[in-house]
Amino acid sequence: MMQETRLHPKDFIYPIFVMEGEDIRNPVESMPGIFQYSIDRLHEILDQVKEAGIGGVMLFGIPVQKDPQGSQAYAVDGITQRAVRYIRERYPEIYIVVDICLCEYTSHGHCGMVQGEQILNDETLPYLVKMAVSLAQAGADMAAPSDMMDGRVAAIREGLDQAGFTQMPIMSYSAKFASAYYGPFRDAAHSAPGFGDRKSYQMDFANGQEALREIAADIEEGADIVMVKPALAYLDVLKEAALSFDVPLAVYNVSGEYAMVKAAAANGWIDEKRIVTENLTAMKRAGAKIIITYHALDAVKWLG
Ligand code: PBG
Ligand code: ZN
Repeated sequence: MMQETRLHPKDFIYPIFVMEGEDIRNPVESMPGIFQYSIDRLHEILDQVKEAGIGGVMLFGIPVQKDPQGSQAYAVDGITQRAVRYIRERYPEIYIVVDICLCEYTSHGHCGMVQGEQILNDETLPYLVKMAVSLAQAGADMAAPSDMMDGRVAAIREGLDQAGFTQMPIMSYSAKFASAYYGPFRDAAHSAPGFGDRKSYQMDFANGQEALREIAADIEEGADIVMVKPALAYLDVLKEAALSFDVPLAVYNVSGEYAMVKAAAANGWIDEKRIVTENLTAMKRAGAKIIITYHALDAVKWLG
């Protein structure tokens, strides 16, 4: 009765990697228990998601065709658009969040348009808008821009409104730090940058106050939910955001955090169930309303 923080299945969003092709269920080596699925086998994981009653899924599409403009990100029959339509038809009860970013779709692996070795902020915005609108048209419930270009929340809000999706919420990756914790994800989503790094658009992990300014700017631009990412090394930022802002907060418990827990657990060095429960509870205690986590299905089982 006196316990201050309690986890609930609806707190969680489960990320899913969708690949083009058939009969695919590839294990992601650095993320034990996580697979890339082709659409024809997506039901294997969606049935579990439905059964678990979690808050939603977050989709990451992996196209075969990549080009400098990331055109498969906003193609009508792009892999993510097809996955959204499939889920919308077969699983009307599953809430679909789509990650809005170009890095899985660009041949250079950066999150935006590139000129030479420079990432172009303003030139990227229309492409992000096209991606968000095309996924909304496919039936997605929420757009989650993760690219970290300045001004993208306002641009996406305006684009969605103009296309008639005035009700569609935006969950912005507002305080997304340039982090080594994304390593395993880039294998899973085939999205490692071909040159350089993401430091010109993601945040310096030394800067907590700047993170709060980024969050404030995104709220100003119309974000309905703001996110801190990664989670565990940034709970101070999350807590301060919770004290400073009155919009719901999300936290992304990222691939590297998951991989560390799984590796130690596989060695018998830690008790996975207890560690995961402790980690997720800490995220909620620090102020997260929504937790995006690869542990979601296990966590729900352990909640009982
Ligand atoms: C795409 C994106 C990334 C993650 C979520 N969306 C990778 C990146 O920015 O390099 C990371 C998720 C994770 O590590 O689990 N921009
Ligand atoms: Zn990206």
